[in-house]
Amino acid sequence: MDYIIETQNLTKTYGKLIAVNKLNLKIKRGDIFGFLGPNGAGKSTTIRMLCGILQPNEGTAKINGFDIINKSEKIKESIGYVTQRFGLYDDLTVQENLSFYASLYNLSEDTINNNIKNILTLLKLTNRANSIVKELSGGLKQRLSIGCAMVHNPEIIFLDEPTAGVDPISRKEMWEVFNHLSQQGITIFITTHYMEEAERCNNIGFIFNGILMAADTPANFKKSGKTLEAVYVSFMNQ
Ligand SMILES: Nc1ncnc2c1ncn2[C@@H]1O[C@H](COP(=O)(O)OP(=O)(O)OP(=O)(O)O)[C@@H](O)[C@H]1O
Ligand SMILES: [Mg+2]
Repeated sequence: MDYIIETQNLTKTYGKLIAVNKLNLKIKRGDIFGFLGPNGAGKSTTIRMLCGILQPNEGTAKINGFDIINKSEKIKESIGYVTQRFGLYDDLTVQENLSFYASLYNLSEDTINNNIKNILTLLKLTNRANSIVKELSGGLKQRLSIGCAMVHNPEIIFLDEPTAGVDPISRKEMWEVFNHLSQQGITIFITTHYMEEAERCNNIGFIFNGILMAADTPANFKKSGKTLEAVYVSFMNQ
């Protein structure tokens, strides 16, 4: 089996705190993987290591075949990363934000224009292309953040709580985008605190105190007759 994300005993410590503890994870290309766990569980730390931004203390991981320790530059071409507080330029327009992020990669002008056009259509932002970002609603800003993170056509998109504080209709629309990307073979790695979003993932992993408690499909977790919320609570009480 060809896994696009594969970690082996991936570990990050801060002094005495083990933020991520011997994480072993395998994710297939085109899957939507949901990473669930309470505040401080180690979700963002894991993402930062998988993006090649943060060095692990122990263990390793391969992203799209590239080692996170010595091929982090290659990884940056393969991934898009929507951080928990993504940096949009408030005084620039939607189009200008996309152009700025595209300019960080080595892309031709034609590719950039084509990608931006497709993203504006996909995210239903075409008629807001010339709007100044600070005038946009929170939901539209989140959508634009996703657009900026995928303007270079990455194969994997990491999204750290992209739907936090977003209204239900905007969230539903964002999930339509994630499903569309997944159908195109793009892998989505997403963190969320919403259980109904976890239901929409192909696979989910529960992390608590830096330890991956279990990873499986939502259907398998619910085989015992429990809701995902009950499964979550049972892992957190162990
Ligand atoms: N730079 C840092 N220095 C020291 N401790 C850190 C640092 N970054 C994270 N931590 C600690 O590591 C643990 C994991 O943090 P992390 O941000 O990965 O959690 P999280 O699951 O993303 O939480 P949240 O749901 O609140 O975003 C926490 O205890 C946090 O305080
Ligand atoms: Mg976090």
